[in-house]
Amino acid sequence: MAKYQNEEFYSIVRPIIENKEFQKMRDVSHHGITRYDHSIRVAYFAYIVLKTLHLDYKEATEAAMLHDFFTDEVCDLNKIAKLRRHPNHAVTNAKKYFELSEKQEDIIKTHMFPITFTPPKYLESWIVDVVDDVAAIYEKGYTLKNEMQAATTFMFILLINIIKFR
Ligand SMILES: [Fe+2]
Ligand SMILES: [Fe+2]
Repeated sequence: MAKYQNEEFYSIVRPIIENKEFQKMRDVSHHGITRYDHSIRVAYFAYIVLKTLHLDYKEATEAAMLHDFFTDEVCDLNKIAKLRRHPNHAVTNAKKYFELSEKQEDIIKTHMFPITFTPPKYLESWIVDVVDDVAAIYEKGYTLKNEMQAATTFMFILLINIIKFR
């Protein structure tokens, strides 16, 4: 389990990792790995960035763990519709097993911005969005679609400007 060798990180995410429903994501393939491994990767790198910036890192790391938390298919829609629908689906599912704060809901709901249209309300949400994009690029490699690369570049520029003018 301790892939990233960081005690504090695992103490934050342990209750989520130990949840039986979350464990089922070990069997769900996502970006060529499992959705379980993807979620831990996003949560871990979000944790590092959030803590470095002295943000609300515990709450946001939990939300990052849950950003893609579902084991069923969102719906039988096309790929772009799935990309747009799954954040709300993850929130609904996460609320069945965990209590979410308003900020945590925002982090999960807006992690696909700008593919979904409502922008994040919190800096923590922007960071999880960008970390998820970078993780997707890393995991998908050459198969990554152009629109995803464009969205990630856009998000990077936006985030740098938000931090700069904060
Ligand atoms: Fe997602
Ligand atoms: Fe994701």
